[in-house]
Amino acid sequence: MIEVKPNPSMLAHQGSYGEYGGAYIPPVLEKQLQQLADFFDNETQKAEFSEEFIQLLKNYVGRPSALFHAKNLSEYVGSKIYLKREDLNHTGSHKINNCIGQILLAKRMGAKEIIAETGAGQHGVAAATASALLGIPCKVFMGAIDVERQALNVRRMRLLGAEVIATELGSKTLKDAVDAALGYYIENPTSFYLLGSHVGPHPYPKMVGYFQSVIGQEARQQILAFEGRLPDSIFASVGGGSNAIGLFSGFLEDKEVSIHGAEGGGDGTYPNTAATLSFGKPTVFQGTRSYCLVDDNGEPIASKSIAAGLDYPGISPQHAYLKDTNRAQYYPVTDQEAIEAYKLLSRLEGITTAIESAHAVALAIKLLKGKNELAIVNVSGRGDKDVEREM
Ligand SMILES: Cc1ncc(COP(=O)(O)O)c(C=O)c1O
Repeated sequence: MIEVKPNPSMLAHQGSYGEYGGAYIPPVLEKQLQQLADFFDNETQKAEFSEEFIQLLKNYVGRPSALFHAKNLSEYVGSKIYLKREDLNHTGSHKINNCIGQILLAKRMGAKEIIAETGAGQHGVAAATASALLGIPCKVFMGAIDVERQALNVRRMRLLGAEVIATELGSKTLKDAVDAALGYYIENPTSFYLLGSHVGPHPYPKMVGYFQSVIGQEARQQILAFEGRLPDSIFASVGGGSNAIGLFSGFLEDKEVSIHGAEGGGDGTYPNTAATLSFGKPTVFQGTRSYCLVDDNGEPIASKSIAAGLDYPGISPQHAYLKDTNRAQYYPVTDQEAIEAYKLLSRLEGITTAIESAHAVALAIKLLKGKNELAIVNVSGRGDKDVEREM
């Protein structure tokens, strides 16, 4: 029997991860975010909050998500590979885990409106879904380019009753959607900002990391049940870093497990990339100190990746810390490598992943070739949204 529950050790973080993290915010937001941090700390100590969260994860989201032994892929690669199937969750990705947690907080805080940003549209769909479930109006900010390249998810959000606001700012992608959502939040302090990744000012990385840690908690129990031992290595795609921290958090203390993050590598050269930890520098960006892709003057630049959900110049402060301390390794995976893995997994296993998740699959194929290792790859989402695109 696999227990569905978040990892309590994620509650120990107080907003800093070594030299990274913190809350670099305008004074108008200070009180609001402090209230949110205190509220989160209090609620997560209450049995009734945890019970409601876990009950919805089980009966609405469909957790635990399966850990599937991908035999054909394993044979192809020459290592034993299990896929953690976050694509099977309600709404089709890991994003719903965090949305259920944050919407319960919003409801308890008496929020009148939910706002969210989205890149691939998966977080927008999950936020719109959770808002519909709890009867709170929802606005989703999305870069105009992403509105076009993830059209299916835009239609889903509208069907769920959310208002989708396309932003024409900057590069018209996820970074600009975050700016637009933050701007709206500052002007409308009674709204609840449901942030979708492991980024932004404290307490967002702490909250998102906690809600997503169910992934790693389950995967650890599942691999021990199936194999009687821990994996040699684990893999996840890294946009802002939430599905990756979800999986990694279950294994951070297990030094024998090597941890690998796949970043959106774009065409493989700087600056046509979203591989923040591979090419970025420590900088303050969108409320937190972490790595960021910057120009010669230290200003954030627009990232480039085929995967809207990875197309972000910032990154979680905890991943920055894990990189610096060598606990995890991060690699750029090119658009082309991801497309090949996307097609290969569809044919070998009958699983069409999100193009974001295909980055993790591609990295696993590359690093595990002929190694005879036991590995887990996080399939963060399903690929329907990407099928209509020419790849
Ligand atoms: C399916 C999927 N995987 C991965 C990501 C990357 O986000 P994160 O790094 O927060 O998991 C996204 C973001 O939209 C996504 O939709």
